[in-house]
Amino acid sequence: MSTEKPTTVAAVDAEALEREALAAVAGAATQEELDEARVRYLGRRSELKLALREVRDRESGMTLNALREKLEAAVEERARRLRTDEQERAASAEPLDLSLPGESPPRGYLHLLTQIRREVEDIFIGLGYRVVDGNEIEDTWHLFDALNMPPQHVTRSPLHTLYLNGDVVLRTETSASQIRVMQSQQPPVYVISPGRVYRRDTADATHSPIFHQVEGLAVDRGITLADLKGTLLHVSRALFGEAREARFSTDFFPFTEPSVGLSISCFRCDGAGCDTCKRTGWIEMAGSGVVDENVLRNVGYDPEEVSGFAFGLGIERIAMLRHAVPDIRAFLDNDPRFLAQF
Ligand code: DAH
Repeated sequence: MSTEKPTTVAAVDAEALEREALAAVAGAATQEELDEARVRYLGRRSELKLALREVRDRESGMTLNALREKLEAAVEERARRLRTDEQERAASAEPLDLSLPGESPPRGYLHLLTQIRREVEDIFIGLGYRVVDGNEIEDTWHLFDALNMPPQHVTRSPLHTLYLNGDVVLRTETSASQIRVMQSQQPPVYVISPGRVYRRDTADATHSPIFHQVEGLAVDRGITLADLKGTLLHVSRALFGEAREARFSTDFFPFTEPSVGLSISCFRCDGAGCDTCKRTGWIEMAGSGVVDENVLRNVGYDPEEVSGFAFGLGIERIAMLRHAVPDIRAFLDNDPRFLAQF
């Protein structure tokens, strides 16, 4: 007599069932056929599930559960196989045509402020200027003291300037670049320094706590206000057309003496008066002046030997004027519907 245990449990021949079910799964040529096999052998009313429900002894339970797991795995494996077969069939039915034009990705573009900064840089490079980076994080000596702004100067208040730590601040103007350049070299100096500046201002249509300036500085023997005017007139014409005229008005900056505001004749109405120039015919373009002798002395230059001029241009301002942008906040909103126009 055989001592092998019978594999027939709970009225099911587990081995026969396994052979039959595995053959059905392996023979399924489509997902539908596979589904049918799964329902037949693993469905709620399948022989196996009914037998599992009837099971009373531990050993039969283990045998039948093992069979269930085996069949489930086989169904899953077959389904995976059918999917890859299907993909391969689809791929070979529709061979890749390398001569078809590809999908071209949308091209990016430069932010308007970057375009204008580069344009201003090109103009000054054409005049022999060097473009230098400044520090967005500055110390109060370079930003204020060296620029002839005494400790009680209103701009130095934490209400206007963002202090990071002690005497370390976010620069409120690019003018500190003047100091760093002069400290690092002897005259002649012809540089511009574009960059971002920070002020503790609440944003509205004409103010932004973050905006961009271009600082300019020329120091050489015999530089006068006339050189400043000629230079800025050239730049204004390059930016706003050859017909522009320039005029100075009196102004004040701690680091220039005399200080002058530069205005150009309105490029929209040619001086007749319109909204752009607030009906004056003139548009303010830059703060500027002859570099104060104290500033030259602060960096170790001799005011008896050399003199200079300096100016500050607003990049947003140029962009707003040129494209009639009514709200400075548009430049920081990063709405592509606005930015893609330029
Ligand atoms: N720093 C000034 C400002 O932020 C702009 C300026 C005025 C810069 C006169 C200069 C200058 O270099 O000479 O308003």
